[in-house]
Amino acid sequence: MKKNSTNPSITLRKFLLEIDQAALRFLALNTPDEIYQAIVWEALRLLAADYGTILLYRKGELKRIYSNHEIIAAAAVRQRGRAYQAFKSRQPVITRIETKADINAKIYKLNIKSIIFIPLTYRQKSIGVLNILSKQQEQLSKDQLGMLKLYGSLACLAINKGESYMETKSALEARELFMEMASHELKTPVTSIYGYLQLIRQYTDVNRLPKKDWVDSITAETTRLIKLIQELLQVGTTREPFFIDFERLHLKKLLCEAEKDFKIIHTDRELETEVKLSLKEDIIFGDKDKLLRMLTNILDNAVKFSPQKSKIILKAKKIGKKIHITIKDFGQGISREDLNKLFDKFYRGRGHDREGMGLGLFLVKEIVRKHRGKIDIKSKMNIGTTVKIILPSYI
Ligand SMILES: Nc1ncnc2c1ncn2[C@@H]1O[C@H](COP(=O)(O)OP(=O)(O)O)[C@@H](O)[C@H]1O
Ligand SMILES: [Mg+2]
Repeated sequence: MKKNSTNPSITLRKFLLEIDQAALRFLALNTPDEIYQAIVWEALRLLAADYGTILLYRKGELKRIYSNHEIIAAAAVRQRGRAYQAFKSRQPVITRIETKADINAKIYKLNIKSIIFIPLTYRQKSIGVLNILSKQQEQLSKDQLGMLKLYGSLACLAINKGESYMETKSALEARELFMEMASHELKTPVTSIYGYLQLIRQYTDVNRLPKKDWVDSITAETTRLIKLIQELLQVGTTREPFFIDFERLHLKKLLCEAEKDFKIIHTDRELETEVKLSLKEDIIFGDKDKLLRMLTNILDNAVKFSPQKSKIILKAKKIGKKIHITIKDFGQGISREDLNKLFDKFYRGRGHDREGMGLGLFLVKEIVRKHRGKIDIKSKMNIGTTVKIILPSYI
């Protein structure tokens, strides 16, 4: 810190002005990396210090997320140290470094004589701490130290701004990706419907009968389109209410309906069912359409990701007060990396070019959650996949 000039109130005003100027510079930036760097850099200039580091409170501990010096960047954070005290008390603190015990051994080697801990606090809430390290003893008045609280608050605003910027950016990217995928997926069936309709039109012109398989193709493609559009519409509503119309249901009947739908759509596939539920114990409280959709989505995946000749097994039984439903296929399986992302909106596994928008399992999870149930997927590459759903039973 530069030596105080004669009039302390002039010095203080100048200091405040410098904080203001510094904040204007880092608040003008957008990405978190630029912002962290500028917060540290401006503080070093303001305090004539040497090194700076930003710690942010994430998942219950202070994590170092930036430093302008590589040794400091790599140093572990002492969880109950002085930085933590500043973070908790929301007050700036200045500490002299006298012995090795005062500081991380590697940082001590940099000849540090003092550290200022500035809490990153906004509206009574701390998000982390800015540590400013100096090779000289910092000479700050009590008032100046107090003013650094303002620096911390403005830095906190900038950090929040950087985070919102990134969130917005990734939301925009997701939207773009979605638009690309949606238009691709919707275009394919429409193009083939259009093609067949042209054929039918030519034939009707000359009074010949159109072939039955053209009509079948149009029906199949239209069904695909309707399904895609339904998925899209449901995702539109999952943001908020995703309305569930609860009623008392017999699960056994519901499973029969799912089986019947399956046989109409997948005429060439074998579905083996094993429902061990008596008519009394299969009562659940749920939304029939949504539960059917849930089953269809999982069964469709089983069909889509397994060879035509392999069978699919649907089982249901009661264990304690819960009903366990499993759908097992003997298909390509899911890689470990894909397994924990499957439920994300628009996530499609890598390494396959099957149609789909990656919305099925996202919807399934929402439906299961709204029914206070659980879902678990176990899978082995080239062996198969088992999806298990556990629902609370009504009785
Ligand atoms: N039974 C399954 N076997 C193998 N992979 C599966 C299975 N079910 C889901 N997946 C993987 O999970 C991804 C996400 O599934 P989903 O949300 O239904 O989207 P979509 O079917 O539109 O691709 C799929 O793209 C696929 O990679
Ligand atoms: Mg799917």
